[in-house]
Amino acid sequence: MDWIGFYDFKHSVIYVNARHRDVHYRTIAEDLRVHVPSPNARVLDYGCGEATSAALLADACGHLTMVEAAPNVRAALKARYEANPKISVMTPEEAAALPPASFDLIVMHSVAQYLSAAELDRLLGVFHRLVKPDGVVLIGDIVPPSFAAPAAAIALLRFGLANGFFWAAVGGLIRILVSDYFQLKKTHGLSHYEEAAMLDRLRTAGYAPERAAHNIGHNQRRMTFLARPVTAR
Ligand SMILES: C[S@@+](CC[C@H](N)C(=O)[O-])C[C@H]1O[C@@H](n2cnc3c(N)ncnc32)[C@H](O)[C@@H]1O
Repeated sequence: MDWIGFYDFKHSVIYVNARHRDVHYRTIAEDLRVHVPSPNARVLDYGCGEATSAALLADACGHLTMVEAAPNVRAALKARYEANPKISVMTPEEAAALPPASFDLIVMHSVAQYLSAAELDRLLGVFHRLVKPDGVVLIGDIVPPSFAAPAAAIALLRFGLANGFFWAAVGGLIRILVSDYFQLKKTHGLSHYEEAAMLDRLRTAGYAPERAAHNIGHNQRRMTFLARPVTAR
């Protein structure tokens, strides 16, 4: 199994219960709405996951394209949003084949840690082609190397305390300890970046990057970057 397979079948491990999942996705959608540049904006959410609040994000833009590599998750997204004319769901390959300059805002949140550095660089290239010259690429939830796991556990417990699922979060953390997560972490690894390393990476990929003041979502130890294309395609 790889990380895509893990996310295709193991949702109950990552989200401690349905309330956690829904509060998680609502928080992300509310945070992302702030970055939508105009009500007509065309937005791409790459690696969107279950995205149970995508309609909230779609309401704030002209069109939302949701890209998910995990086939079961993608099928569920298609079923959930087929009646929403502002939303389309596609595979990574379909998204990569879209015309240049298709999007005003491209989001990739909480995905980079599952990619090798080479895969991340390749995707930054794909996004560079797909984003409009005056658009923005938002890379969220970049995990710094030190204390990543304890910081994630504490952030989850605080999120649970604030949103009525504290004890479920405690149980969820215990379940994660005995799940495939740590085995996969050993075999496939997780990618971590310091702020300066991510800024360098984005510059090398042809962007003018900055770190956003607020990370998308509940874990403020992680980082969000806003990157504007500067070099020619
Ligand atoms: C933690 S979830 C993030 C979902 C959502 N963006 C969020 O913030 O909650 C990680 C996502 O990364 C996707 N993913 C993992 N490895 C990937 C890869 N190699 N290529 C594309 N997507 C990948 C998974 O399918 C999953 O949807």
